[in-house]
Amino acid sequence: MISDKMVKALNVQMNNEFYNSRLYLSMATFFYDINLDGAAHWMEKQAGEETGHAMKLYGHLKERNARILLTEVPAPPTKWASPLAVFEDAYKHECDVTKAFDALVAQAQTLKDNATLNFLQWFVNEQVEEEASVDAVVQKLKMAEKAPGALFFIDRMLGER
Ligand code: FEO
Repeated sequence: MISDKMVKALNVQMNNEFYNSRLYLSMATFFYDINLDGAAHWMEKQAGEETGHAMKLYGHLKERNARILLTEVPAPPTKWASPLAVFEDAYKHECDVTKAFDALVAQAQTLKDNATLNFLQWFVNEQVEEEASVDAVVQKLKMAEKAPGALFFIDRMLGER
């Protein structure tokens, strides 16, 4: 049987993932507003993935016969100084998400909850990919700072996600 402490922590992370989805969707609308439709498309895809993460946690809680609690989701930011600032924010955010999953893993270990520990490994691997994919865009946008025309090509590439 899953412990109340683990249920609470997984519920928090599930709600955080719903926030993540809204954060990326807000970033998408920012990009549409400045006519970078490719970047907006990339962010919409990411928002969809984040909803998937939330539902994965939902599914695990459901399978363990735990109480699922949907809480209030804070409003995400709506403005950024530049396209680079958006992706830098996203990268910082993903690093925080990685820390959150590391903390969940530590908690599952302490509680000797091997089922949750096993379940969380998917997220541990996913976070490696999440950080890398956002950082790759940050690096490209940094290069584009010296060649503004390059932004057009980056946007086209992001639209192919
Ligand atoms: Fe679900 Fe990008 O963390």
